[in-house]
Amino acid sequence: MIWVIGSNGMLARDIILMLKKKDLKYIATGAEIDITSLESLKEEAVKIKPSYIINCAAYTKVDMAEDESDLAHKVNAEGVANIAVIAKDYNAKLIHFSTDYVFDGLSQNPYREDDKTNPLSIYGKTKLEGEKHALRIDNSLVLRVSWLYGINGANFVYTMLRLMNEKDSIKVVSDQYGSPTNTIDIANIVIDIIKNNSNISGLYHYTNDGAISWYDFALEIYKKGIEYKQINSECIINPCVTREYPTKAIRPKYSLMSKEHIKRDLSIELVNWKTSLDIFFHTLINK
Ligand SMILES: NC(=O)c1ccc[n+]([C@@H]2O[C@H](COP(=O)([O-])OP(=O)(O)OC[C@H]3O[C@@H](n4cnc5c(N)ncnc54)[C@H](OP(=O)(O)O)[C@@H]3O)[C@@H](O)[C@H]2O)c1
Repeated sequence: MIWVIGSNGMLARDIILMLKKKDLKYIATGAEIDITSLESLKEEAVKIKPSYIINCAAYTKVDMAEDESDLAHKVNAEGVANIAVIAKDYNAKLIHFSTDYVFDGLSQNPYREDDKTNPLSIYGKTKLEGEKHALRIDNSLVLRVSWLYGINGANFVYTMLRLMNEKDSIKVVSDQYGSPTNTIDIANIVIDIIKNNSNISGLYHYTNDGAISWYDFALEIYKKGIEYKQINSECIINPCVTREYPTKAIRPKYSLMSKEHIKRDLSIELVNWKTSLDIFFHTLINK
């Protein structure tokens, strides 16, 4: 049985959508099964007898984590350690997600899986601990993903659409580079791995293809928003630098990750970020 943990999250909901589409049997649990409690995970596991555990639960409030470091640590580090115990007990494959925020962003080349990590934020630190816990068991796969957006969840695309409809002009950071990623593409990869009974394990990077700034992303969101009639008024998008828009947590300036390993080991092509954004809008208007 496939067990999806953290089922109300943005990524989880796309994974569940794809599991349904592909007729794969699964059980999904939300925040009622608290991953920080090994006992409640154990009680649930007895009923589910998982062969796959897909962990989508996480503390994801990047700025708030600076003030709630204990909670972030409990969920992102201890919670994953608990899930790893269960996965080991049931000999289940654990699929877990981490983040580009484990890097400091000082590189000028795409980060490889074995590159030195140096998280700048509490969120990044706790996620790094979490991935180490997940990787301690043999049969685990950790996908480091970045800049997620999806149909079901608060994210940058929805924020931009709202602001672009409300304001005559907005400023967007143009000196942070990375790869936006549609959660549906991650869901597709996860489902392929399960369907093909792939024995891929360890740490991999996976994002949509291409490297852009948040400003570039906003420009394309505006273009698509007009094309798909999700923006009804004119809005000028101006670039700004990070220091004009300070946030509590420091983000890496450059968090492009190399996807060569996953491309090679799964024989896959990456989806270009523009194509994936277009698919997002197409899905949105047909919702
Ligand atoms: N979003 C991004 O841009 C991004 C970027 C890189 C990596 N990631 C990683 O990708 C994964 C999925 O992210 P996402 O954006 O889909 O996250 P999300 O929408 O915030 O979903 C996380 C889910 O975890 C649940 N949760 C929190 N604490 C829990 C606990 N103690 N026990 C059980 N469930 C708990 C939350 O429940 P509630 O709904 O009740 O809060 C929420 O439904 C995470 O590992 C995240 O770190 C995300």
